[in-house]
Amino acid sequence: MTERAKVYVKPNGSVRVTGAVDFVDADGNVIETKENFSLCRCGHSANKPFCDGAHKPAGFTAP
Ligand code: FES
Repeated sequence: MTERAKVYVKPNGSVRVTGAVDFVDADGNVIETKENFSLCRCGHSANKPFCDGAHKPAGFTAP
């Protein structure tokens, strides 16, 4: 049984996703399934939509 996906908003950092998630294109086709990754929410990543750690040197803070 696949672990249910969970989303964690990290303090002053990324959005961490655990569990399997399907990435779907505009036509509804699954283009990739990923597990355990972080999404950028600071806008500084060179690998968007994924976090590459750039939020730390950028001094990103979030309420
Ligand atoms: S949140 Fe980590 S690079 Fe943007």
